[in-house]
Amino acid sequence: MKTLCLLGATGSIGQSTLKLVDQHPDLFRITALSAHTQVDALIDLCRRYRPVQACIADPGLFTELRNGLSAAGLNTTPLAGPESLEHMAADSSSNTVIAAIVGAAGVASTLSAARAGKRILLANKESIVLAGQLLMQTVAAHGAQLFPVDSEHNAIFQCLPAGGGRDGVRRLILTASGGPFLGKSRADLATITPEQACRHPKWSMGRKISVDSATLMNKGLEVIEAHHLFGMPAEAIEVVVHPQSIVHSMVDYRDGSVLAQMGEPDMRTAIAYGLSYPDRIDSGVKALDFRNLGHLEFQAPDTLTFPCLSLAYTAIGRGGNAPAVLNAANEVAVMAFLEGRLPFLGIADIVAQTLDTLAWEPAADLAVLMASDAEARRFANHRIH
Ligand SMILES: NC(=O)c1ccc[n+]([C@@H]2O[C@H](COP(=O)([O-])OP(=O)(O)OC[C@H]3O[C@@H](n4cnc5c(N)ncnc54)[C@H](OP(=O)(O)O)[C@@H]3O)[C@@H](O)[C@H]2O)c1
Repeated sequence: MKTLCLLGATGSIGQSTLKLVDQHPDLFRITALSAHTQVDALIDLCRRYRPVQACIADPGLFTELRNGLSAAGLNTTPLAGPESLEHMAADSSSNTVIAAIVGAAGVASTLSAARAGKRILLANKESIVLAGQLLMQTVAAHGAQLFPVDSEHNAIFQCLPAGGGRDGVRRLILTASGGPFLGKSRADLATITPEQACRHPKWSMGRKISVDSATLMNKGLEVIEAHHLFGMPAEAIEVVVHPQSIVHSMVDYRDGSVLAQMGEPDMRTAIAYGLSYPDRIDSGVKALDFRNLGHLEFQAPDTLTFPCLSLAYTAIGRGGNAPAVLNAANEVAVMAFLEGRLPFLGIADIVAQTLDTLAWEPAADLAVLMASDAEARRFANHRIH
């Protein structure tokens, strides 16, 4: 029986995970749940799954959580605040942690799960973008296991040789849907609204990652993620636009073979694989219908219209705190766009300015990275106002 600590239970990945738990009560049990501000939704989930602990990340909502749990007659221990999230991720009541918080807010709890030697299903890509080297070292030092839940990395994980040898690998090929604005010009993008940016043609996701998909920053973050997860240099990680989102990513081997992982665009496939590895379980995702699939297209990304992808390659090249700076500036810019304070094209501008202005530092430890994260947020916010 896998005992699950689900961080970010009220989000899109959280909900997909819970569907799998509902489908396999004999295999998985929820022992810990978290949310940020949706305290009522968290209490409802506690009623359904009766976890040992529940944490609301916003400390101001502790009393509401405690009273709600007690009114529901539950024994669930109420917790609140970012430090409690870290404790919960390391607690012995779970052997598996699903890191599905959005943004840099998920870094500390992911690292805590790694220090506790847990099996980690990593959806929170910002953890590995911000602190990739540190996270990989922590995982190795404490015998934790990391399973990528991002569909592209999950695909590559499935296509790489079991046991991890990389000698025969020539390239990793990350596919990108191209987002809702594929084929548009910069002029077309000038007046894009948050609603348009969040309407992804293939995937149903949270608002931040939907905007990242629209700017192609999502793919940029994924290149950084792949670089750390699979130990490949940036020049061996290629992005190709594939609008149908059927091929989730590929591994190109030196002998000319290319292995691809395919499936319907539904995150339950990747989550199910991480939950059940090395076994395969029913995920509820429908089978691919090859007879009616039609054409699968592939094309180069348009990095002039969508410069965020190139900015991510620049950040890998610079190394040190540069990916943390890129990530923080992007989070601030995306939030400003969603709140109507920044035009869509301003997102890449803010990230580029922040990356070019902030001082480079080696990624010595989490404190340095979090300080760079905070400085980049200050700078980006200042530029926006
Ligand atoms: N959705 C996808 O298909 C997909 C695919 C690949 C990777 N990912 C990655 O998975 C992560 C989650 O994405 P999502 O789409 O599920 O996001 P989402 O729907 O926006 O959900 C985010 C979750 O994180 C919680 N949260 C937000 N801010 C927080 C904070 N400051 N501290 C603690 N918890 C916080 C939210 O709680 P409240 O509900 O209370 O706000 C919610 O439970 C992201 O890193 C994303 O890049 C997502």
